[in-house]
Amino acid sequence: MKKRILAYGRLNDDQLAQLGQDFEVQAFPDLSSADDPAFRAALPEAHGLIGASLAITPELLDAAPKLEAIATISLGYDNYPVEALTRRGILLCNTPDVLTETTADTGFLLIMAAARRAVELADLVKRGDWQAGIGPEHFGSDVHGKTLGLIGFGRIGAAVARRGALGFGMRILYSNASPKPELDAELGAERRELDELLEASDFVCVTVPLTAETEHLIGEREFALMKPSAIFVNIARGKVVNEAALIEALEMGRIRAAGLDVFEQEPLSPESPLPHMANVVALPHIGSATHETRTAMAQRAVDNLILALRGEGPLNLVNDAAWRPA
Ligand code: DGY
Repeated sequence: MKKRILAYGRLNDDQLAQLGQDFEVQAFPDLSSADDPAFRAALPEAHGLIGASLAITPELLDAAPKLEAIATISLGYDNYPVEALTRRGILLCNTPDVLTETTADTGFLLIMAAARRAVELADLVKRGDWQAGIGPEHFGSDVHGKTLGLIGFGRIGAAVARRGALGFGMRILYSNASPKPELDAELGAERRELDELLEASDFVCVTVPLTAETEHLIGEREFALMKPSAIFVNIARGKVVNEAALIEALEMGRIRAAGLDVFEQEPLSPESPLPHMANVVALPHIGSATHETRTAMAQRAVDNLILALRGEGPLNLVNDAAWRPA
Protein backbone atom coordinates (compact mmCIF):
# COMPACT_ATOMS: atom_id res chain seq x y z
CA MET A 1 0.00 0.00 0.00
CA LYS A 2 1.19 3.47 -0.87
CA LYS A 3 2.09 5.83 1.94
CA ARG A 4 -0.31 8.74 2.37
CA ILE A 5 0.56 12.43 2.29
CA LEU A 6 -1.61 15.32 3.44
CA ALA A 7 -0.69 18.42 1.43
CA TYR A 8 -1.98 21.58 3.10
CA GLY A 9 0.38 24.05 1.45
CA ARG A 10 0.13 25.55 -2.02
CA LEU A 11 1.61 23.03 -4.43
CA ASN A 12 1.25 23.36 -8.18
CA ASP A 13 -0.13 20.57 -10.37
CA ASP A 14 3.34 19.31 -11.32
CA GLN A 15 4.38 19.10 -7.68
CA LEU A 16 1.19 17.27 -6.70
CA ALA A 17 1.74 14.88 -9.63
CA GLN A 18 5.36 14.30 -8.55
CA LEU A 19 4.20 13.31 -5.07
CA GLY A 20 1.41 11.23 -6.59
CA GLN A 21 3.88 8.99 -8.44
CA ASP A 22 4.88 7.21 -5.24
CA PHE A 23 2.26 8.25 -2.69
CA GLU A 24 -1.46 8.76 -2.13
CA VAL A 25 -1.94 12.51 -1.86
CA GLN A 26 -4.84 14.20 -0.16
CA ALA A 27 -4.79 17.95 -0.83
CA PHE A 28 -6.14 20.62 1.54
CA PRO A 29 -5.25 23.76 -0.43
CA ASP A 30 -7.39 26.12 1.65
CA LEU A 31 -6.76 24.67 5.10
CA SER A 32 -6.79 27.48 7.64
CA SER A 33 -6.88 25.50 10.86
CA ALA A 34 -5.60 22.15 12.08
CA ASP A 35 -9.09 21.64 13.54
CA ASP A 36 -10.63 21.30 10.08
CA PRO A 37 -12.76 18.12 10.40
CA ALA A 38 -11.66 16.56 7.07
CA PHE A 39 -7.99 17.17 7.94
CA ARG A 40 -8.46 15.69 11.43
CA ALA A 41 -10.19 12.67 9.93
CA ALA A 42 -7.26 12.10 7.54
CA LEU A 43 -4.51 12.39 10.17
CA PRO A 44 -4.61 8.79 11.54
CA GLU A 45 -3.56 7.40 8.13
CA ALA A 46 -0.99 10.11 7.28
CA HIS A 47 2.68 9.19 6.78
CA GLY A 48 3.74 12.62 5.56
CA LEU A 49 2.62 16.25 5.87
CA ILE A 50 3.63 19.09 3.59
CA GLY A 51 2.61 22.71 4.01
CA ALA A 52 3.18 25.98 5.80
CA SER A 53 1.75 28.27 8.45
CA LEU A 54 -0.04 25.61 10.46
CA ALA A 55 0.81 25.30 14.14
CA ILE A 56 1.64 21.63 14.70
CA THR A 57 1.08 20.61 18.31
CA PRO A 58 2.03 17.43 20.21
CA GLU A 59 -1.71 16.83 20.52
CA LEU A 60 -2.02 16.84 16.72
CA LEU A 61 0.86 14.37 16.56
CA ASP A 62 -1.08 12.06 18.90
CA ALA A 63 -3.76 11.94 16.22
CA ALA A 64 -1.23 10.92 13.56
CA PRO A 65 0.42 7.71 14.85
CA LYS A 66 1.78 6.71 11.43
CA LEU A 67 3.48 10.04 10.74
CA GLU A 68 7.08 9.68 9.52
CA ALA A 69 7.98 13.09 8.09
CA ILE A 70 6.85 16.71 7.83
CA ALA A 71 8.12 19.01 5.09
CA THR A 72 7.47 22.62 5.98
CA ILE A 73 7.41 25.10 3.09
CA SER A 74 9.39 27.62 5.11
CA LEU A 75 12.80 28.26 6.51
CA GLY A 76 11.50 28.99 10.00
CA TYR A 77 10.19 26.09 12.05
CA ASP A 78 9.24 27.88 15.25
CA ASN A 79 5.66 26.60 14.97
CA TYR A 80 6.76 22.96 15.16
CA PRO A 81 7.39 21.05 18.41
CA VAL A 82 10.88 19.88 17.39
CA GLU A 83 11.61 17.90 20.57
CA ALA A 84 8.30 16.05 20.42
CA LEU A 85 8.89 15.24 16.75
CA THR A 86 12.38 13.96 17.46
CA ARG A 87 11.17 11.82 20.37
CA ARG A 88 8.68 10.19 18.03
CA GLY A 89 11.27 9.74 15.26
CA ILE A 90 9.34 12.07 12.93
CA LEU A 91 11.62 13.90 10.47
CA LEU A 92 11.16 17.66 10.06
CA CYS A 93 12.52 19.24 6.86
CA ASN A 94 12.64 22.96 5.97
CA THR A 95 13.59 25.04 2.93
CA PRO A 96 16.78 27.06 3.44
CA ASP A 97 18.88 28.58 0.63
CA VAL A 98 16.15 28.99 -1.99
CA LEU A 99 14.66 32.00 -0.19
CA THR A 100 17.85 33.74 0.92
CA GLU A 101 18.09 36.38 -1.80
CA THR A 102 14.36 37.15 -1.94
CA THR A 103 14.15 37.59 1.82
CA ALA A 104 17.23 39.84 1.72
CA ASP A 105 15.49 41.88 -1.01
CA THR A 106 12.58 42.36 1.40
CA GLY A 107 15.00 43.49 4.10
CA PHE A 108 16.47 46.06 1.79
CA LEU A 109 13.05 47.13 0.58
CA LEU A 110 12.17 47.93 4.21
CA ILE A 111 15.45 49.74 4.81
CA MET A 112 14.87 51.93 1.75
CA ALA A 113 11.15 52.46 2.26
CA ALA A 114 11.51 53.41 5.92
CA ALA A 115 14.50 55.68 5.30
CA ARG A 116 12.94 57.52 2.36
CA ARG A 117 9.42 57.48 3.85
CA ALA A 118 8.20 55.89 0.63
CA VAL A 119 4.85 54.58 1.87
CA GLU A 120 3.93 57.74 3.78
CA LEU A 121 4.78 59.95 0.79
CA ALA A 122 3.14 57.65 -1.77
CA ASP A 123 -0.01 57.88 0.39
CA LEU A 124 0.24 61.66 0.30
CA VAL A 125 0.27 61.57 -3.52
CA LYS A 126 -2.62 59.08 -3.57
CA ARG A 127 -4.72 61.34 -1.33
CA GLY A 128 -4.15 64.25 -3.73
CA ASP A 129 -2.22 66.16 -1.06
CA TRP A 130 0.83 66.87 -3.22
CA GLN A 131 0.09 70.55 -3.65
CA ALA A 132 3.55 72.09 -3.52
CA GLY A 133 7.21 71.19 -3.57
CA ILE A 134 8.23 68.72 -0.90
CA GLY A 135 10.03 70.43 1.99
CA PRO A 136 12.20 69.37 4.92
CA GLU A 137 9.20 68.09 6.86
CA HIS A 138 9.02 65.30 4.30
CA PHE A 139 12.72 64.65 3.79
CA GLY A 140 14.01 61.18 4.55
CA SER A 141 17.47 59.87 5.51
CA ASP A 142 20.29 58.66 3.29
CA VAL A 143 20.98 54.95 3.17
CA HIS A 144 24.25 54.93 1.20
CA GLY A 145 27.37 55.36 3.25
CA LYS A 146 25.61 54.67 6.58
CA THR A 147 26.24 51.92 9.12
CA LEU A 148 24.10 48.80 8.88
CA GLY A 149 23.96 46.51 11.94
CA LEU A 150 22.80 42.95 11.40
CA ILE A 151 21.54 41.00 14.39
CA GLY A 152 22.19 37.46 13.22
CA PHE A 153 24.64 36.84 10.39
CA GLY A 154 23.48 33.63 8.75
CA ARG A 155 22.67 33.32 5.07
CA ILE A 156 19.94 35.98 5.04
CA GLY A 157 21.85 38.41 7.26
CA ALA A 158 24.89 38.06 5.02
CA ALA A 159 22.77 38.62 1.89
CA VAL A 160 21.32 41.85 3.36
CA ALA A 161 24.86 42.92 4.30
CA ARG A 162 26.11 42.22 0.77
CA ARG A 163 23.43 44.54 -0.66
CA GLY A 164 24.40 47.23 1.84
CA ALA A 165 28.17 46.95 1.45
CA LEU A 166 28.45 46.37 -2.28
CA GLY A 167 25.41 48.32 -3.51
CA PHE A 168 25.24 51.19 -1.05
CA GLY A 169 28.77 51.55 0.32
CA MET A 170 27.56 50.85 3.86
CA ARG A 171 29.73 49.91 6.82
CA ILE A 172 28.59 46.52 8.11
CA LEU A 173 28.46 45.52 11.78
CA TYR A 174 27.06 42.19 12.95
CA SER A 175 26.33 40.38 16.16
CA ASN A 176 26.41 36.63 15.85
CA ALA A 177 27.30 33.64 18.00
CA SER A 178 30.28 32.83 15.78
CA PRO A 179 32.67 35.07 13.83
CA LYS A 180 32.45 35.05 10.04
CA PRO A 181 36.00 35.74 8.85
CA GLU A 182 35.14 35.12 5.19
CA LEU A 183 32.43 37.84 5.33
CA ASP A 184 34.74 40.15 7.25
CA ALA A 185 37.15 39.80 4.32
CA GLU A 186 34.49 40.01 1.59
CA LEU A 187 32.46 42.91 2.97
CA GLY A 188 34.72 44.52 5.54
CA ALA A 189 32.13 43.36 8.10
CA GLU A 190 32.97 43.82 11.79
CA ARG A 191 31.63 41.57 14.56
CA ARG A 192 30.41 43.45 17.64
CA GLU A 193 28.69 42.75 20.94
CA LEU A 194 24.96 43.44 20.56
CA ASP A 195 25.00 46.60 22.72
CA GLU A 196 27.88 48.07 20.78
CA LEU A 197 26.15 47.32 17.49
CA LEU A 198 22.94 48.99 18.68
CA GLU A 199 24.80 52.13 19.72
CA ALA A 200 26.77 52.45 16.48
CA SER A 201 24.26 51.52 13.76
CA ASP A 202 22.10 53.83 11.65
CA PHE A 203 20.06 50.82 10.51
CA VAL A 204 19.48 47.80 12.74
CA CYS A 205 18.15 44.74 10.92
CA VAL A 206 17.05 41.58 12.75
CA THR A 207 17.62 38.26 10.99
CA VAL A 208 17.96 35.74 13.86
CA PRO A 209 15.62 32.74 14.06
CA LEU A 210 13.06 32.68 16.89
CA THR A 211 14.26 30.39 19.69
CA ALA A 212 13.91 30.38 23.48
CA GLU A 213 17.14 32.44 23.57
CA THR A 214 16.07 35.06 21.01
CA GLU A 215 12.48 35.61 22.19
CA HIS A 216 12.21 39.32 23.14
CA LEU A 217 15.93 39.77 22.45
CA ILE A 218 15.14 43.39 21.55
CA GLY A 219 13.16 45.36 24.12
CA GLU A 220 13.06 48.65 25.98
CA ARG A 221 16.73 48.53 27.01
CA GLU A 222 17.91 47.77 23.48
CA PHE A 223 15.77 50.52 21.87
CA ALA A 224 17.19 52.96 24.43
CA LEU A 225 20.71 52.09 23.26
CA MET A 226 19.93 52.88 19.60
CA LYS A 227 20.52 56.30 18.07
CA PRO A 228 17.42 58.55 18.00
CA SER A 229 17.95 58.61 14.22
CA ALA A 230 18.10 54.80 13.97
CA ILE A 231 15.83 52.86 11.65
CA PHE A 232 14.83 49.42 12.90
CA VAL A 233 13.98 46.58 10.49
CA ASN A 234 12.65 43.12 11.35
CA ILE A 235 12.50 40.36 8.72
CA ALA A 236 12.95 37.48 11.20
CA ARG A 237 10.06 36.77 13.56
CA GLY A 238 7.87 39.21 15.45
CA LYS A 239 8.49 37.57 18.82
CA VAL A 240 12.22 38.37 18.67
CA VAL A 241 11.10 41.91 19.50
CA ASN A 242 9.03 43.14 22.42
CA GLU A 243 6.40 44.87 20.28
CA ALA A 244 5.06 47.06 23.10
CA ALA A 245 8.59 48.40 23.63
CA LEU A 246 8.97 48.98 19.89
CA ILE A 247 5.70 50.93 19.74
CA GLU A 248 6.77 53.05 22.69
CA ALA A 249 10.22 53.71 21.18
CA LEU A 250 8.57 54.86 17.94
CA GLU A 251 5.94 56.97 19.69
CA MET A 252 8.47 58.63 22.00
CA GLY A 253 10.93 59.30 19.17
CA ARG A 254 13.60 57.11 20.77
CA ILE A 255 14.18 55.73 17.27
CA ARG A 256 13.18 57.36 13.99
CA ALA A 257 11.32 54.66 12.09
CA ALA A 258 10.72 50.96 11.59
CA GLY A 259 10.27 48.63 8.65
CA LEU A 260 8.46 45.47 9.73
CA ASP A 261 7.60 42.30 7.85
CA VAL A 262 6.80 40.25 10.95
CA PHE A 263 4.75 40.79 14.10
CA GLU A 264 4.14 39.16 17.46
CA GLN A 265 0.65 38.26 16.28
CA GLU A 266 0.02 37.44 12.60
CA PRO A 267 -2.14 38.48 10.89
CA LEU A 268 -1.67 41.76 12.73
CA SER A 269 -4.42 42.53 15.22
CA PRO A 270 -6.81 45.30 14.03
CA GLU A 271 -6.06 47.01 17.36
CA SER A 272 -2.34 47.34 16.63
CA PRO A 273 -1.26 50.97 16.20
CA LEU A 274 1.74 49.98 14.06
CA PRO A 275 0.18 50.18 10.56
CA HIS A 276 -1.28 53.60 11.39
CA MET A 277 2.01 55.16 12.45
CA ALA A 278 3.56 57.46 9.83
CA ASN A 279 7.06 56.28 10.71
CA VAL A 280 6.27 52.57 10.23
CA VAL A 281 6.32 50.56 7.03
CA ALA A 282 4.36 47.37 7.77
CA LEU A 283 4.23 44.42 5.37
CA PRO A 284 2.14 41.23 5.75
CA HIS A 285 5.05 38.76 6.20
CA ILE A 286 6.11 38.72 2.54
CA GLY A 287 9.82 37.97 3.09
CA SER A 288 9.92 35.13 0.57
CA ALA A 289 6.62 35.82 -1.20
CA THR A 290 7.49 35.97 -4.88
CA HIS A 291 6.19 33.58 -7.53
CA GLU A 292 9.67 32.26 -8.24
CA THR A 293 10.73 31.76 -4.64
CA ARG A 294 7.51 30.28 -3.30
CA THR A 295 7.54 27.80 -6.20
CA ALA A 296 11.16 26.90 -5.42
CA MET A 297 10.36 26.50 -1.71
CA ALA A 298 7.41 24.22 -2.44
CA GLN A 299 9.62 22.19 -4.79
CA ARG A 300 12.31 21.88 -2.14
CA ALA A 301 9.69 20.69 0.35
CA VAL A 302 8.35 18.14 -2.15
CA ASP A 303 11.87 16.81 -2.79
CA ASN A 304 12.56 16.64 0.94
CA LEU A 305 9.36 14.74 1.67
CA ILE A 306 9.89 12.22 -1.10
CA LEU A 307 13.42 11.46 0.11
CA ALA A 308 12.28 11.27 3.73
CA LEU A 309 9.40 8.89 3.04
CA ARG A 310 11.60 6.71 0.83
CA GLY A 311 14.01 6.38 3.75
CA GLU A 312 16.71 8.29 1.89
CA GLY A 313 18.32 11.31 3.58
CA PRO A 314 16.27 14.48 3.01
CA LEU A 315 18.17 17.51 1.76
CA ASN A 316 17.27 19.76 4.69
CA LEU A 317 16.71 17.95 7.93
CA VAL A 318 16.03 20.09 10.99
CA ASN A 319 16.12 17.30 13.59
CA ASP A 320 19.12 15.14 12.69
CA ALA A 321 18.55 13.07 15.84
CA ALA A 322 15.31 11.70 14.38
CA TRP A 323 17.10 10.25 11.36
CA ARG A 324 17.54 6.51 11.42
CA PRO A 325 19.02 5.41 8.12
CA ALA A 326 17.68 2.08 6.87
C1 DGY B 1 10.12 31.41 6.33
O1 DGY B 1 10.32 30.66 5.38
O2 DGY B 1 10.45 31.12 7.49
C2 DGY B 1 9.42 32.69 6.05
O3 DGY B 1 9.50 33.59 7.09
C3 DGY B 1 7.99 32.39 5.74
O4 DGY B 1 7.38 31.92 6.91
